[in-house]
Amino acid sequence: MRIGIFGGSFDPVHNGHIAMIESAMKSGFIDCVIIIPSVRNSFKLYTNKLPPPYRLYMMKETVEGLSLKNCFVSDVEFDIEGVSYTAVVLAKLTSEEYIRDFLIANGVKRKKAEEHHDFFWIMGSDTLGSFETWYKPGEILNFVTLLAAVRPGDGTDVDKAKASIEKNLGGKVGIFRLNGIECSSSGITGSGDFSEVPAPAREFIARHALYSDNTMLSGISDDARKKFFESAVWMYHYLGGKRLLHTLNVGYLSAHLAGVFGCDKDKALIAGALHDCAKELPLDQQLEKAKKYSGELFTEKKLLHSPAGATFAKEQFGIEDPEILDAICYHTTGRGDMTLLEKIVYLADKIEPSRNYTDLTPIREAAEKDLESAMRMTAAAVKDKFVSQGRDIHPMTLLMMRDLGM
Ligand SMILES: [Fe+2]
Ligand SMILES: [Fe+2]
Repeated sequence: MRIGIFGGSFDPVHNGHIAMIESAMKSGFIDCVIIIPSVRNSFKLYTNKLPPPYRLYMMKETVEGLSLKNCFVSDVEFDIEGVSYTAVVLAKLTSEEYIRDFLIANGVKRKKAEEHHDFFWIMGSDTLGSFETWYKPGEILNFVTLLAAVRPGDGTDVDKAKASIEKNLGGKVGIFRLNGIECSSSGITGSGDFSEVPAPAREFIARHALYSDNTMLSGISDDARKKFFESAVWMYHYLGGKRLLHTLNVGYLSAHLAGVFGCDKDKALIAGALHDCAKELPLDQQLEKAKKYSGELFTEKKLLHSPAGATFAKEQFGIEDPEILDAICYHTTGRGDMTLLEKIVYLADKIEPSRNYTDLTPIREAAEKDLESAMRMTAAAVKDKFVSQGRDIHPMTLLMMRDLGM
C-alpha cells in the first residue's frame, strides 16, 4: 500500500487538519493515512496544552465520528523513550513487523498488510522550506517521500524547496493541492472560538472540560507540569482510555481545588493524576502492592487499587512524597484525620467533569465554596449506595464521616 503519515500535536484537531488529510487522500499519491499525535515533540517538549493521551483519544473519536475512511490513528510515539524525532518514529513505524501488526489491528486484511508499503510524509508547504534543518533529514528520506500541501495562493516557493531537498539530500518530494481553510490550534485556544474544531472533538473537549481555566495549569511549576505529562504517558501502558482520562481529569480538578482551598497545587495535580494508576493491574499484583503499602488494612477487591497505586506510583514512577502517596492510598475510602490534600483528591475523584453517574451539579457547586460540605454530600451519596446494596461501609470511611460530623 501507499501509506501517508501525518504527524502533529492536534492540540486541538481542527478543520485545517481534516482538510489536509482529505486533500492528501484525493491527491492520488496514497491509499490510506496514519495520523500520529505527538508525545514529545522536539519543538514542544511539555509545552502542549494537553498531555498526549487527550490528544490521541480526541483524534481517535474525531476520525471515528467523521467516518474518515482509510484513516488510522497511531500511538507509536508512546513507545519511544525521549524526544520523538521524526527519524526515530519512522524507523519504528515503518519496520515490517510493526506496520503489519498495526494495519491488521486496524482492520486491514492480512494479505494487504503484509505487502510491500511505500510511505509518504504529509506536511504543509511552509514546513517544507525548513525541512533540511530537521533532525537527520537524510535519514527521514530513507523511509518516506515528502508530500507537501500547497494552498491556492500559497506564497511559499515550493519548487525551490523541493529542488533544494532533492539536490542536497537526494530525497523525493511530491506536491498536492490543499483545498481548505487556514486555521491554527493556538489561534483556536487563544480566541476560545472552537467553531473550526470538528464536532466529535468539540464533544470530547466539553466532556472533559478541556481548554478551560481548570486545565490551564496556571500556578503549576515546570517540574510538576513535566511530571504530569510524563505520568500520562506512563499510565497509558496500564490503563484503558476512559480510565486514563478520568484519572488525569482528577489531576486537573485537584489542582484547581488546591488553588481554591490553599493547598499545594503541584502535589494535588500529581496525586490526583496518579490516583487510579493501579486500577487495571491484575488482582494478584494489586494485592501484593496493596499489602506493601498498608498491610492488611484493605482486603476488598475494589479497594486494593488505592494502596496498590501508592506502591506502584512510588516504585515504578518514582514518587517519594508521602503526602502524595497517602492521598493516592486513601482516595476510595477516605480515613480519619484526613489532610487537605487527601480530602481534595477524594472529592475530585467523585466529581471530575466526565463523571455522570448522577446529577453532580449541587456537589460541584458546593466544591467551589465549601470543601467539607461537598465532602459530606459525596459521603452521603456513597452511604446511600452502600445501604441500598446491603454492603458494609469501610471502617476508614466511617472515621471520615465522623470527622465530617455525619
Ligand atoms: Fe479509584
Ligand atoms: Fe478514580
